[in-house]
Amino acid sequence: MAGSVVLERLGIRSVDSSSASIASLNPADGSELGRVRLASTEDYERTISKSIEVFQRWRMFPAPKRGQIVREIGDELRRFKDDLGTLVTLEMGKILAEGKGEVQEMIDIADFAVGLSRQLYGLTIASERPEHRMLEQWHPLGVVGVISAFNFPVAVWSWNALLAAVCGDCVIWKPSLKTPLTALAVQNICDRVLARHGWSGVLQLIIGDDATIGERLTADRRIPLISATGSTRMGRVVAETVARRLGRTLLELGGNNGVLVMNDANLDLALRAVLFGAVGTAGQRCTSIRRLFLQRGIAQEMTRKLKGAYDGIRIGDPMDEKTLMGPLIDRQAVEAMRAALARIQAEGGEIIFGGEELGGCYVKPALVKARADMPIVQEEVFAPILYLIEFDALEEAIQWHNAVPQGLSSAMFTGNLISAETFLSARGSDCGIANINIGTSGAEIGGAFGGEKDTGGGRESGSDAWKAYMRRQTVTTNWSQELPLAQGIEFDV
Ligand code: UN1
Repeated sequence: MAGSVVLERLGIRSVDSSSASIASLNPADGSELGRVRLASTEDYERTISKSIEVFQRWRMFPAPKRGQIVREIGDELRRFKDDLGTLVTLEMGKILAEGKGEVQEMIDIADFAVGLSRQLYGLTIASERPEHRMLEQWHPLGVVGVISAFNFPVAVWSWNALLAAVCGDCVIWKPSLKTPLTALAVQNICDRVLARHGWSGVLQLIIGDDATIGERLTADRRIPLISATGSTRMGRVVAETVARRLGRTLLELGGNNGVLVMNDANLDLALRAVLFGAVGTAGQRCTSIRRLFLQRGIAQEMTRKLKGAYDGIRIGDPMDEKTLMGPLIDRQAVEAMRAALARIQAEGGEIIFGGEELGGCYVKPALVKARADMPIVQEEVFAPILYLIEFDALEEAIQWHNAVPQGLSSAMFTGNLISAETFLSARGSDCGIANINIGTSGAEIGGAFGGEKDTGGGRESGSDAWKAYMRRQTVTTNWSQELPLAQGIEFDV
């Protein structure tokens, strides 16, 4: 069996069901891939103590040297790209190309982190006082908690953990209980590299349920930053708990991503992008396209093209290279999609294609004629349901586009400079990501990733997202023999 060979190569041994454990299921066929032991409160204490102890030294290890260790983690990920990508597919159900793509995203962020390890730069600032020097420097923050979701079981952890590691932090990772094996596999890779250099404990994993581990982690004052990816509902709980102790959060929560297709758009381009964005990962990306705004002049043609393309999507075993859409993560997700489709109809939406259940965790992606103001359209349904909404004027579409609570990713298809610039302007898209002539998903790691409003406001991955994992210190040095005070204050006895 492909699964057991891959698990063995990734060093994963299943525990038996007598201990407190959970099963990891393959959504493609419901089979059990393995069992994982759940952490206890004692395990948690042991893990955090180790992180705190290692942090005392790691923070003083030069950043470029920390980068060399992350470089080796990147090398190991290259070596295990196929195995780890396959395990992502087996455990999460995304197609193999996307499973491997996710590992590539980890490799890319490792490279980025290595370069960053020689930067982490601060500013120098002109002082108003003579013979004074003022600057900003960045110090490691401490132990960072990373809570990740099932849909990107490894890549999103790496955005956080590999940047945090070069920044001098230690990381405790709480993965989704739907994808514990991929987390174990990544941890095994990291453990080997870290142990080789005497740095065991810089990156740690704790697999546990919310009541035992999740709540402890978020309430723990010893953890200055919690980075969490998942639903807005989860993010709100995390944010409230962490805020109560004045800790920091970095949140990447729900999206409800919209695409505007203008009359002058290249429809073939738009069609391909919409397919990848709405059907890719079976609509289970936070960046998936959920709302498609079609300008009246192309609406009919685009709808026809979409129906044709949806009809040709090969749904099935995600391990089969010809498959474009695998299963949803579990039966609950299928039921949630069913409930959403019923609500859509009750609210006056018209399902014009798909939505059928195909057995197990498989569904047909759905196309729905909808109105922008339907209550369900305001929500993120984590399933391949695409709302088609017609509009006349650009301003109207932008207003509808921005009217939902979420603000992650957005896109416009147009050949018109003025439309494009309007969409990118301050009165255009209100999202953290805005694209022209590409879809809403599949962002490169080099840009800051995240969104506004109910998406949580965090930025991860590229650009200057690293600053979230460090503390800023403003330094003023007086190298004169006087003591001039700022603001011209005289204070002499
Ligand atoms: C997510 O779904 O949580 O932009 C992350 C994308 C991927 C990351 C998605 N690079 O679609």
